[in-house]
Amino acid sequence: MRYIDDAIALEAASITAMRDMAKDAVSTDERLLYEGHLTESESHKQRLEGRLITLGGEAKRSLVKDVMNSIGAAATNILHAGKNDDEKDTRNLLQAYAMESLEVAVYEALYAAANSSDDGETALLARQIQGEESAMAKHLFFRIADSSIIAVGAAT
Ligand SMILES: [Fe+2]
Repeated sequence: MRYIDDAIALEAASITAMRDMAKDAVSTDERLLYEGHLTESESHKQRLEGRLITLGGEAKRSLVKDVMNSIGAAATNILHAGKNDDEKDTRNLLQAYAMESLEVAVYEALYAAANSSDDGETALLARQIQGEESAMAKHLFFRIADSSIIAVGAAT
């Protein structure tokens, strides 16, 4: 099932990103936010792989990988001006927010695809994971303003 492959690829990218961003975190609570979502992302990936095996699927080329690479490249190009830790913090928040938002959208696609194939279990899993992605996106969003103000202050 292609949408499960997409979600697994996305979770793999998310695991790497959360690990990197936890290292860059400028405060303990921010580090715990990234680490907490790292644990969630590992669980998401495992549960999706379980569904894939149950459904007898095999890993196929993922379209989401291309989207992720584009977002990653664009975000890096636009935001790579971040030279100090505060600017890097803002850049990570923006990048993480973009990733979580993409995950929310991908799980919407997985939910719809699973429902239309009468795969209620995958649909339920998609909704459960989507809720955690959405919560993470909100946590990140509310940090963006403060982080950017601090970064501007540090640069002037
Ligand atoms: Fe996520």
